[in-house]
Amino acid sequence: MTNAINTPIASAHESTHTPLLNGIVNDPVTHPERTNATLARIQEIIQTLASPFCGSLLTACIRAAGPDVDFFEPIPTAVGEDVARALAEGLGPKLSAQAAQMLRESELSTQEVIHFHRKHKIPVSHLEDDLLPVRGQGAKIWDSKGRVYIDLDSNYSATNLGNANEAIATGLFNQAKLLISQKEDRIQVARTRFLKEIGGMLPDGLEHFYWQNSGGEAVDKALKIAKAYTGHTGVIAFEGGFHGRTHGAVSVTHNLLYRKPFGLHDQPWVYFAPYDDLTAVAALLEKEVAKTVILEWVQGEEAGVRAATPEFSQGLRELCDQFGAVLIADEVQTGFGRVAGAPGQWFASQRLGVMPDLMTIGKSFGGGYPVTAVVTNAKVAEAMQPGYDGSTFGGNPMAMTAALIATRQMKALDLTPYVVERAEQFANGLSKIDSPLLLNTRTVGLMIGIDLPSSEHVHNVQGVMKEHGAHSSLSTGATLRWLPLLVITAEEVQQVLQAFTAALNSLEGA
Ligand SMILES: Cc1ncc(COP(=O)(O)O)c(C=O)c1O
Repeated sequence: MTNAINTPIASAHESTHTPLLNGIVNDPVTHPERTNATLARIQEIIQTLASPFCGSLLTACIRAAGPDVDFFEPIPTAVGEDVARALAEGLGPKLSAQAAQMLRESELSTQEVIHFHRKHKIPVSHLEDDLLPVRGQGAKIWDSKGRVYIDLDSNYSATNLGNANEAIATGLFNQAKLLISQKEDRIQVARTRFLKEIGGMLPDGLEHFYWQNSGGEAVDKALKIAKAYTGHTGVIAFEGGFHGRTHGAVSVTHNLLYRKPFGLHDQPWVYFAPYDDLTAVAALLEKEVAKTVILEWVQGEEAGVRAATPEFSQGLRELCDQFGAVLIADEVQTGFGRVAGAPGQWFASQRLGVMPDLMTIGKSFGGGYPVTAVVTNAKVAEAMQPGYDGSTFGGNPMAMTAALIATRQMKALDLTPYVVERAEQFANGLSKIDSPLLLNTRTVGLMIGIDLPSSEHVHNVQGVMKEHGAHSSLSTGATLRWLPLLVITAEEVQQVLQAFTAALNSLEGA
């Protein structure tokens, strides 16, 4: 036993208990983000790996920790080695290696994590505590109990390049050591690197950026820029649309549930039109109630994957030109290859061949690290003047580093033809599934909507698929939504389809 924090790690000879010791007693120099493990986590690991003899092994660990150690507090460094030895003895070499891996992934038990979240969350949304993700690789996630799943959520399309990212980790590490934060209006090297890299990806002419931190913020700021440019406050948005939860973004989001509690249901500057209805838009523009139109080219969250037709998208562009209105394409979800229909279609606007005046981008922009932006052309950009807006964190060096590396990776992986292939594989696979429960499917790139008879079916299908190693939590009413990572492999797509078929079969029999 020793009291010095670093000594056990540095001097212990390699033995079964050493990796366990390194998981139980944290080295605060190499891992300033962690604490020592709790007995609660040790208990969870024992129960997961060695349930038949878990009682006596847990007792041995508790005894090694001493009578005063709280189950939910970090095990004191001084007794860490004794606990590691007791655990190693009980588990043997093979399970000890697995236990050490689990400790590296989390020193806290799932129970503790759930407890703290339940206790401290303002319940703006349902807490998803069906699994605790602790590690990712490619399209897979591992939970705190060592189970692995193919991830069909991609954090709402934010982790398109993988659930962990070595290059982004290294880039952020390097940048954080040099310069961690700079306000939006200060010049910096990281952003310049990004600007030199992005060329060729965005629709031509959209080369002026205003940096933000979330999609909702980007939508807010796009609306402000559009209003400044048109000199008109009115905005046309669409039924079934979703643009985020800030005051401005939620004001142009159709669902009343999101607006009414906050008095945002009758904003005098917002007009909703049915999606795909050019006549309704033309009528509003003719009345001159609005000079800004905002929409998603593929409605995701609220409409269960509904794509604009070419006629609608081109017609909207023509109407905006005719009435001097600006078109904002909210590509926060559809951007960066998500809905590619052919090589080079990084954005839905390119897929449709329609140039918006403003575009909002976010989600996978930083490979999972928060960074978003409004992009626009020179003419619209000029309408904003110094003092109109500002941001402490927008486009900070960390965000720009993540965006730079993610952009390089997307290009290096030549992601758009890959998405086309995987989307075809999903569409073909789904078309071959013969089940009375499968009512309709829509596959737009890797945005996938699957209509089932009811929301209860959606819930049940998600449950059975989880048992088969495919995890999804997204839905819109009776529509199951899949947003797999864009790097999902062909084999993983096959596994998802098998899990889905198994789920439908089991529910048909129910
Ligand atoms: C189209 C669209 N716009 C805006 C947002 C809001 O993004 P964020 O959650 O980053 O604020 C979302 C989020 O799902 C979205 O899908």
